[in-house]
Amino acid sequence: MSLERKDDHDHGGWMKSRDLSPVEKGYLTVLIWLDRRLRIVDYLELMEDLYYKANLQMPKSHTEQYNLDNKFWYWYPLYALGSFSTLAYVVAAISGALLGFYYSPSTAAAGAEGELTVAYASITFIMTELNFGYLLRSLHRWSAQVMVAAVFLHMLRVYFTGAYKEPRELNWILGIVLISLTMVFGYTGYLLPWDQLAFWAGQIGVEMSLSIPLAGEWVAQLIFGGFSLSQSTLQRMYILHVFFLPFITTALIAIHIGIVWMQGIAEPH
Ligand code: HEM
Repeated sequence: MSLERKDDHDHGGWMKSRDLSPVEKGYLTVLIWLDRRLRIVDYLELMEDLYYKANLQMPKSHTEQYNLDNKFWYWYPLYALGSFSTLAYVVAAISGALLGFYYSPSTAAAGAEGELTVAYASITFIMTELNFGYLLRSLHRWSAQVMVAAVFLHMLRVYFTGAYKEPRELNWILGIVLISLTMVFGYTGYLLPWDQLAFWAGQIGVEMSLSIPLAGEWVAQLIFGGFSLSQSTLQRMYILHVFFLPFITTALIAIHIGIVWMQGIAEPH
């Protein structure tokens, strides 16, 4: 296909050639307007071409190859634990985004007594005063825990059905990265309420980092912002939890599912 500009696309002629409904006319007008400026039809054709080329190279599953009828595992709900992990992730992402409107990652004193921090007070506000706040936080915590369990069970099912074998090794390795990111999500989120559980879990993290030979101090500085817990620690956990991890994890889940889509789901060996 030529990549040269096609300013001479004859859009007008066939538009007039038959009666079009207002919806068709509107759709074509927008498409043509965009195509004149951004050549989107050419790019859509390129993507279509790429899609067919990629699919042609993919191995056929046993069922497809021999045209077997017995495809019960396609519908067996517990077989698709990956979808269950995805669902838990989506619920956690939506409830987390909503919690973000009310939570503040600050270790400053919240009241005159100076004992409560702003972070902890914002969680107390969500739990006791915000309409549906208790529900929102529970949804977030439960979906996060369900996700950890689902991802682990998904990994077991991939292992015991032999689905990690050729040609799916890359998706297995991507899966290892995903389960690690899921755990980092859990840890960074656990620290955010800045309560006693969070504080001591943070302390354990600092000490584990410091126990690393040679690079220990550097790692503690990098991840926790120092050797004891402070505002820098909470801020780092917050940015990791709400900024870095969501983008990276969402992109990797999309690639992971894209690979399953291209390769077809494995069948029990
Ligand atoms: C955030 C975590 C994860 C999500 C959201 C996820 C999602 C999915 C989905 C939706 C599928 C389609 C098939 C199915 O539903 O079972 C799948 C397949 C697969 N996953 Fe995951 N996954 C995750 C973690 C993992 C882990 C930890 C591993 C292993 C280390 C893994 C390895 C694989 C492999 C090899 C396949 C292909 C299996 C087949 O074709 O039968 N995934 N994943």
